[in-house]
Amino acid sequence: MKKIVKNGTIVTAADTFKGEILIEDGKITQIGANLSAVGAEVIDAKGCLVFPGGIDPHTHLDMPFGGTVTRDDFESGTIAAAFGGTTSIIDFCLTNKGEPLKNAIQTWHNKSKDKAVIDYSFHLMISEINDQVLNELPQVINEEGITSFKVFMAYKNVFQADDETLFKTLVTAKDLGALVMVHAENGDVIDYLTKKALAEGNTDPIYHALTRPPELEGEATGRAARFTGLANSQLYVVHVSCADAVEKIAEARAKGYEVWGETCPQYLVLDQSYLEKPNFEGAKYVWSPPLREKWNQDVLWNALKSGQLQTLGSDQCSFDFKGQKDLGRGDFTKIPNGGPMIEDRLTILFSEGVKKGRISLNQFVDITSTRIAKLFGLFPKKGTISIGADADLVIFDPNIERVLLAETHHMAVDYNAFEGMKVTGEPVSVLVRGEYVVRDKQFVGKPGSGQYLKREKYRSTSPVTQDETLSI
Ligand code: URP
Ligand code: ZN
Ligand code: ZN
Ligand code: ZN
Repeated sequence: MKKIVKNGTIVTAADTFKGEILIEDGKITQIGANLSAVGAEVIDAKGCLVFPGGIDPHTHLDMPFGGTVTRDDFESGTIAAAFGGTTSIIDFCLTNKGEPLKNAIQTWHNKSKDKAVIDYSFHLMISEINDQVLNELPQVINEEGITSFKVFMAYKNVFQADDETLFKTLVTAKDLGALVMVHAENGDVIDYLTKKALAEGNTDPIYHALTRPPELEGEATGRAARFTGLANSQLYVVHVSCADAVEKIAEARAKGYEVWGETCPQYLVLDQSYLEKPNFEGAKYVWSPPLREKWNQDVLWNALKSGQLQTLGSDQCSFDFKGQKDLGRGDFTKIPNGGPMIEDRLTILFSEGVKKGRISLNQFVDITSTRIAKLFGLFPKKGTISIGADADLVIFDPNIERVLLAETHHMAVDYNAFEGMKVTGEPVSVLVRGEYVVRDKQFVGKPGSGQYLKREKYRSTSPVTQDETLSI
């Protein structure tokens, strides 16, 4: 079935122009003016921007954590993502020490296969590097198309890997063509500080932030970056929350190290004071790294603008306030870490970033889609509007004013972290491979219609060249 997008303003990471897009068999086959539309269904994008579908490089759907499981699974999570203009996600596949990697990957296929309404892929968590893991990794890359590995430097006695494992992962990834992702916080020192806080009777949610200070994110980020330089490898630092970490990334990039940084909407607009909300409401804002003092927000925005941070992930990891966050009443260490962010990622960056003049429209597309596709081996099938690319498109009304609310969001969780926030802009229709998933703000997709994406190997790109591209 042919479709044609008419009357919209097409926006890519490089250009903004009036034009039409012809879609055939799920792919973009023509871009131009006055295209022949015989037999094509017309999608009228009058007054709207047309973006390549957002790619969320950081989600945790149906993930066990702290004795419970995230509220959003691959169905509710990807439906909410679609409403927010995201057409592909890359979720973190957890592994257990001693267990074959292929079992862990199969578990994640089972969670997603019949549920996802948008396309999806996986990153693989590395918790140990031994002969068994080394034997399996080439298959993970070549057969599963999983070309990014995640190492946790925090969550002691749960996910945390030691420095030896991180360094070996960097060396192995360089050899195999994968990108290493780190959760950069010093888990050992956090462990000491949390035990001390509890022993002193400091059990409220705010102590989650006070026991994970920015110094420990900066330290771990700098350590991982140094290891990357030494291994001549490649690193992607997830959920950068503060100036301390931005400084370390900038320092590494100035040395020519291939180090990339992602931040998340929550760090751009919320701050540490949210953890002090009364009646245990601060628990809604407990995730790691924690929210920081407000001045850090300017540093993050400037880093997105200057290209020192390159991407925005959601770190979607949702737990209900009632019954799940509740587990940590009287002991902040038992509050499941994470928040519901998958739906509002693009809107917040558009409303707070583009509308307020902090980043350009083309940077918005690069940060939410194009750069992510390039770093994670999906470009140019995903991440841009070009001939031959998948027709993953967002028809976005840049002038709608609305308020973010749990009552109207599409995530399964019982609160919205941005409750009451006024935003400008909303995805009106969203297409994945040429098929509507959201049409005129109504869900019309089908669970199971999302396809698993095998990704290409990591391709080295000079950080400097990419920054120059951005400023054109
Ligand atoms: O608190 C968070 N971010 N939970 C999800 C797991 C992680 O560290 O990314
Ligand atoms: Zn993390
Ligand atoms: Zn995460
Ligand atoms: Zn809606």
